Amino acid sequence: MDLQLRDRTAVVTGASQGIGKATAIGLAAQGVRVALVARRRPLLEEIAAGIEAAGGPAPHIIEADLYQESAVDHIVQSAQAAFGHVDIVVNAGGGSRPLDFDAGPDLWMEGMTLNFFRLRELTQALVPGMRKQRWGRVVNITGTSEPKILNAAFSAKAAVHVWAKGLSRLVAADNVTVNCLQPGRIRSEQMKLRYPTEESELEFARQEIPAGRFGEAEELANLAVFLCSQRASYVTGTVIPVDGGMSRFAF
Ligand SMILES: NC(=O)c1ccc[n+]([C@@H]2O[C@H](COP(=O)([O-])OP(=O)(O)OC[C@H]3O[C@@H](n4cnc5c(N)ncnc54)[C@H](OP(=O)(O)O)[C@@H]3O)[C@@H](O)[C@H]2O)c1
Repeated sequence: MDLQLRDRTAVVTGASQGIGKATAIGLAAQGVRVALVARRRPLLEEIAAGIEAAGGPAPHIIEADLYQESAVDHIVQSAQAAFGHVDIVVNAGGGSRPLDFDAGPDLWMEGMTLNFFRLRELTQALVPGMRKQRWGRVVNITGTSEPKILNAAFSAKAAVHVWAKGLSRLVAADNVTVNCLQPGRIRSEQMKLRYPTEESELEFARQEIPAGRFGEAEELANLAVFLCSQRASYVTGTVIPVDGGMSRFAF
């Protein structure tokens, strides 16, 4: 299936590793010019070199810290200077933040800033251009809606789901789609910290994941790339788990 993505442009946050990296590589393989956003420039340079070596269009690198208020302006200006316009934004930058019951407002604010506020601000800055050109794609990498502990990231991801739904309805008539993907347990640097050994992964998977294993970033990126494509033109306002069957609820 031709995804009809050739010569589109995309901003991908969290592109230095894990899901963001796999999605950026997947988009570039379809001929998309990608702006790779994260803090660790050497990792982004390595990924850009890999994309070019594979015959993909040269990526644009944007070093940015999403905790900084200035990050959004910096990302938007840099992407627009490089590409002229932005067709797609994939919000994969983020991080989990388990909190104690007594955690103070600064820790909650930190988790909300990284996982909701900046994501919303960046998208809001890019969506007017998409509406004007009457084509755009927003894909948010979120997380579970079935928390077992307190975690600022879970609350932030839930905020993304509800905000994204509202936004999707506002912009659908301009051919701009907005969707969320909920990873279950996808192998990444973040997951490696929580499940450092193969045995710890398998023990969790045996109990919680019908597929019996953790997923690979590419298994989520495949769907992210599809949602970014012309082929997904009638899919918007959704929250789709990619979790080997881990979530327990049908809706
Ligand atoms: N993997 C899973 O199973 C899973 C499960 C639930 C939710 N998620 C969510 O899915 C998204 C991607 O997860 P992942 O597993 O691929 O994570 P990951 O491997 O830990 O990657 C996180 C990415 O976010 C970037 N990032 C973190 N803090 C940043 C900051 N302050 N400024 C700019 N970039 C920042 C990191 O880049 P730098 O460090 O280079 O800046 C990195 O590229 C995250 O939002 C995560 O919460 C993942």
